Amino acid sequence: MRIDLLSRNPQVTPEQMLEGFQPTARFGKVSFENYLPNADFPSQALARDTLREFTQNPPQPVKRLFRKPRPVEGVGYYLDGGFGVGKTHLLAAAWHAFQGKKVFLSYQELLYTIGMLGMHKAIAAFHGYELLCIDEFELDDPGNTHMTSTFLGQLMPMGTHVITTSNTQPEHLGQGRFNAEDFKRQIQAIAERFTVLSIDGPDYRQRGAGLGKPFKKSELALLEKQAGSFVRVTASELNLHLTRVHPARFSRMLDGIDAVILDDLVCMTDQNIALRFVHFIDKVYDLNLKFAASGEALDQLFPSTYRYGAYAKKYSRCLSRLTEMLALSARRLEQPETVR
Ligand SMILES: Nc1ncnc2c1ncn2[C@@H]1O[C@H](COP(=O)(O)OP(=O)(O)OP(=O)(O)O)[C@@H](O)[C@H]1O
Ligand SMILES: [Mg+2]
Repeated sequence: MRIDLLSRNPQVTPEQMLEGFQPTARFGKVSFENYLPNADFPSQALARDTLREFTQNPPQPVKRLFRKPRPVEGVGYYLDGGFGVGKTHLLAAAWHAFQGKKVFLSYQELLYTIGMLGMHKAIAAFHGYELLCIDEFELDDPGNTHMTSTFLGQLMPMGTHVITTSNTQPEHLGQGRFNAEDFKRQIQAIAERFTVLSIDGPDYRQRGAGLGKPFKKSELALLEKQAGSFVRVTASELNLHLTRVHPARFSRMLDGIDAVILDDLVCMTDQNIALRFVHFIDKVYDLNLKFAASGEALDQLFPSTYRYGAYAKKYSRCLSRLTEMLALSARRLEQPETVR
């Protein structure tokens, strides 16, 4: 069944947002056990073991006779590494293993929630959680930096533990995006809350292959027939629509959709549009939806000034995810009955 994505612009209340904050379908069943560390990169096993140990023995509030337990400062872990090395897998594994009140969300979703509730209410709303898992941490501008510093500065001393993933080392946060020098103290204070676990290794998704290839229209028609509920729009129509929907609502916008099929990928020459598209692909990937597209080759999708500029990592990650999803669709075309 074809779904009209362009007429969807869901409104999400703060309560609905909070309820929905848990690992998406792709990471619904991941664990420390099904994380297979690469023996050539010992940092992988080290990160897994450190997080497993933490989830089994997290610091607890100190019990006191006739008084409320005294909170201990929450611990912070910062999983830093290139794209596709398994950071989100480990983050979600920690979330699944942790016994206690916990929340899993992207940094983008966190900022959106703080923006919607206001800082005071956001701190109150998250205060009840013992563990916050924040995927894809990064500081894009001074406002975010200030917000993040206040938020963590209020919550962590009261005992909330935070694990986060990022493609950027903490000391390089914000670099190239805004005048990070002026916010050095705040960035430093954020970084000091975390123990960094650097994860090295190759992109698990690509395993050395090149970028994925778009499909012919005739192939898209076949994939469309295989899909359950699907959207099929041109990339330009999608991009225009995405300018009207906040990225934190993309997930809800994709509710009940099984496959996203895009016609005519073209080079995106506006950075705002390109970044929205990147966020959209992040969601399609996290939700484990089927994806296929026709049009320009992936290396033509983003101008090289973007691919090597301040947001280079976001674009590389997007191309890595697109490659994985296109490869899966290609397999579906070859062996429809064996691939979901
Ligand atoms: N060591 C591993 N063992 C098993 N599966 C893995 C491993 N590393 C990665 N994966 C799988 O590979 C895919 C990519 O991993 P993941 O999304 O966790 O990478 P990432 O480091 O978060 O990448 P990104 O920077 O793109 O967010 C996931 O499906 C994940 O489950
Ligand atoms: Mg990730």
